[in-house]
Amino acid sequence: SLLTAVQLALGEVIGAYAIAILDKEHPDEIVAARKSSPLVVGIGEDEFFLASDATPIVEYTDKVVYLEDGEIAVINRGEELKVVDLNNVEMTPEVKKVELNLGQLEKGGYPHFMLKEIFEQPDCIHDCMRGRINVDADNVVLSAVIDNKERLLSAKRFIIVACGTSWHAGLIGKQLIESFCRIPVEVEYASEFRYRDPVINEQDVVIAISQSGETADTLAAVELAKSRGAFIYGICNAIGSSIPRATHTGSYIHVGPEIGVASTKAFTGQVTVLAMLALTLAKEKGTIDERYYLSVVRELNQIPEKMKEVLKLNDKLAELSKTFTYAHNFIYLGRGYSYPVALEGALKLKEISYIHAEGYPAAEMKHGPIALIDAEMPVVVIATQNALYEKVLSNIQEIKARKGRVIAFVTKGDMVISQIADCSIELPETIECLNPLITTVPLQLLAYHIAVCKGMDVDQPRNLAKSVTVE
Ligand code: M6R
Repeated sequence: SLLTAVQLALGEVIGAYAIAILDKEHPDEIVAARKSSPLVVGIGEDEFFLASDATPIVEYTDKVVYLEDGEIAVINRGEELKVVDLNNVEMTPEVKKVELNLGQLEKGGYPHFMLKEIFEQPDCIHDCMRGRINVDADNVVLSAVIDNKERLLSAKRFIIVACGTSWHAGLIGKQLIESFCRIPVEVEYASEFRYRDPVINEQDVVIAISQSGETADTLAAVELAKSRGAFIYGICNAIGSSIPRATHTGSYIHVGPEIGVASTKAFTGQVTVLAMLALTLAKEKGTIDERYYLSVVRELNQIPEKMKEVLKLNDKLAELSKTFTYAHNFIYLGRGYSYPVALEGALKLKEISYIHAEGYPAAEMKHGPIALIDAEMPVVVIATQNALYEKVLSNIQEIKARKGRVIAFVTKGDMVISQIADCSIELPETIECLNPLITTVPLQLLAYHIAVCKGMDVDQPRNLAKSVTVE
C-alpha cells in the first residue's frame, strides 16, 4: 500500500521534511508526514487541508491537527483522518481549534501587510499585556513564571536562543533580566549554539524566542538544551507551533498573525514579554527596588499611547525617506538598550530595500567603521535621553566632523542634537529600559518608506521566507 511504501521509504530518509504523497493509481488517498519541518492537517466538511501552519487553512476550517515528528497522516476520501507512526501503530489525532479570524489575515485598507502590522503595534502591545498587568498598573504577573517559580528562581544562568529579529529582542532581554534580576544571561544565535557543543547545565534556563515557532535552528537548539537537562521557556507568537510544543513552559506574545516577512510587531511583542518576564522574576527574587519596579510597570502601561504618538510621524518619515533612496550603504548606531535597536533598524532596511546597512554600538565606530564615513554616508543614530546621552552626542560630533549625514532619533524637546544632526526626529520620552519599544517603530517606518520609494516588494522580499523551517 501507499502507506507501507511511505513508512519504508521514510525509514531511510535523512534530514528534515514535510511531505504529502499521492499515488496516481489511487487518487483518493494522500499520505503526509513530517520530520523537523512543520505540517498541519486541517479538517473541514468532507475535505482536508495540508499546510505548514494554520494561517492559510483558517479561511476553510478552524479544526487542525498538528503532526509531530514521526507521525504519518493518512487521508482517504469520505473517511476520518487516521494518524499512524513509522511502525504502523495508530494514534488518536488531537484536534485543536484555531483562534484566528480572517480580518487578521487581510490588509485592512493598508497597501502592505508590513505597514498594517507597524500600525497595529499599540493594540498588539495592549493585547500582549492584557491580563498580565493589572488595571491599576502596579503589578505584573506572567503566569508561566509563577507556575515554575522554583525552577526559574534557582537558575544560575539564562541562555537566550533565537535568530534574526528575535535574536535582537533577546539582546534587549539580556539587559532587562541582568539589570532587574542580577542573573547572568547569554544570548546565542540558535544556528551557532546547536552545533558548537555548548556548556549547558541542569540549572540553566534556556529562553527560546521565535515569532513563527517553527525556525528550524531555534527548534534544534531547544531540543539540544532539553536533552542536556535545561529548563526551556518559549516566547513565541504562533499558537500551537512547534517551539511552544517543545518547551516546558512559556508565554505567547499575542500580537496576532504576522504576515509581512519583515518582522515588526512580533519584535515589540517579544520585548514586552521579556520586560514582563524580567519584572515578574525580579519581584519574586526581591532584586528590584519597589519604586523602580512600579515606575517600569506604569510606564509599560503607557507604551501603547506613546506608540500612537510615534505613528503620527509616518508622513514625516515618508518624506524623509525620499532623500535617502540614493544610498547604497547605511550605518545605524545606538548604545545600551539602543544598540539592539540599531541592529534591528539595519536589518529592516537591508531585508526590504536591499540597501546594505550595518548596526554598531556607537562607541565601536572609532575602532574601524568610522573609516566608512563620508558625505554620502547616512548614519542613523538612536540618541534619545539616557545615561549615555553625552557620549552619543560626541559620537554624532565625530560623524559630522567627517561630513556624514546624521539622521537622529531624539527625545522630544532635545535642542542640542537637533542642531547638529542633518535631520532629527523627536520621540516621546520613556524610561530608558523601555526605549526600544518606542525607538524601533520609526526605524520600521523609515525602512518601509525607503523600500516603497525604491519600488521593492515590501511584504515578500527576494530570497526570504517568513518561517525559516530549513537549516
Ligand atoms: O520566526 P522567528 O522569529 O524564529 O524568525 C527568526 C528570523 O528568521 C526572523 O526574525 C527574520 O530575521 C525576519 N525576517 C526579520 O525581519
